[in-house]
Amino acid sequence: MNSKRCLIIGATSDIAKELIYIFANNGYSLDLAARRIDELDRIANDLAIRYKTEVINYQLDIENLISVNQFMNNYKHIPDVVVFAIGYLGNQKLAETDWEEAKKIIDINYTNQIPLLNHFANLLEKSNLGTIIGISSIAGERGRKANYFYGSAKAALTQYLSGLRQRLFDTEVNVLTVKPGFIRTKMTSHLNVPPIFEGNARDVAEKIFKAYKKNKPVLIIPAIYKLLNMVIKLLPEAIYKKLNI
Ligand SMILES: NC(=O)c1ccc[n+]([C@@H]2O[C@H](COP(=O)([O-])OP(=O)(O)OC[C@H]3O[C@@H](n4cnc5c(N)ncnc54)[C@H](OP(=O)(O)O)[C@@H]3O)[C@@H](O)[C@H]2O)c1
Repeated sequence: MNSKRCLIIGATSDIAKELIYIFANNGYSLDLAARRIDELDRIANDLAIRYKTEVINYQLDIENLISVNQFMNNYKHIPDVVVFAIGYLGNQKLAETDWEEAKKIIDINYTNQIPLLNHFANLLEKSNLGTIIGISSIAGERGRKANYFYGSAKAALTQYLSGLRQRLFDTEVNVLTVKPGFIRTKMTSHLNVPPIFEGNARDVAEKIFKAYKKNKPVLIIPAIYKLLNMVIKLLPEAIYKKLNI
């Protein structure tokens, strides 16, 4: 079979799961990496029934660099598209006093993703084709007291992806940075957010796929966050520091 190949890192994420079905529906074969192999097997069985999609599952625990290296050694393909969907909101309050929690947030959202990003950037650059999709966050645009450990790690990821896009500008490799606002998933199920600021995973996945097809560099979703982000970034620090957000 000569179908295109999509690798999803963090394939058990609620947003990634929606993306998986969109890629499968569009004829892609899928390589799925996540820490919960039983959940990947369930997804693979379902895909086999619905789409006859070729699926290969990989165990990956991003907190464990041995696992990251094993995954890179085991993965023998050159994918057409790689999606980075792993994320960890963590406990902001705990992280303020507990270095273990602070480090966990930074490692999962940024530091430990770097070997994988470097690896697939170099692989795609060599083959001069493909797309890297990194799911960052609007939280990385300006620090907030509610989640600045998570936000600062996402800010680093956003800057990494921006630099990578510039580096690969002369190639046929596109880098898409996705910056979701609040999306109702298992990561955010404990938070209360007014419906106007709330997106859903299916809609996000559809917009990611469209942006990927159009070789877009950056996607902010839901659309209301484009305006909100502009306002937040323009606010003078003297005002911003007093906000209870
Ligand atoms: N939901 C939002 O409001 C929102 C907003 C902005 C950005 N994002 C970003 O969107 C992406 C997808 O998140 P989501 O909303 O779909 O949340 P989610 O369902 O909680 O997905 C998070 C993913 O990260 C994985 N993960 C966490 N720690 C891991 C570890 N040590 N090793 C391997 N995988 C690990 C989770 O695995 P398990 O399934 O095993 O837990 C899961 O696949 C993330 O990058 C997130 O930061 C989300």
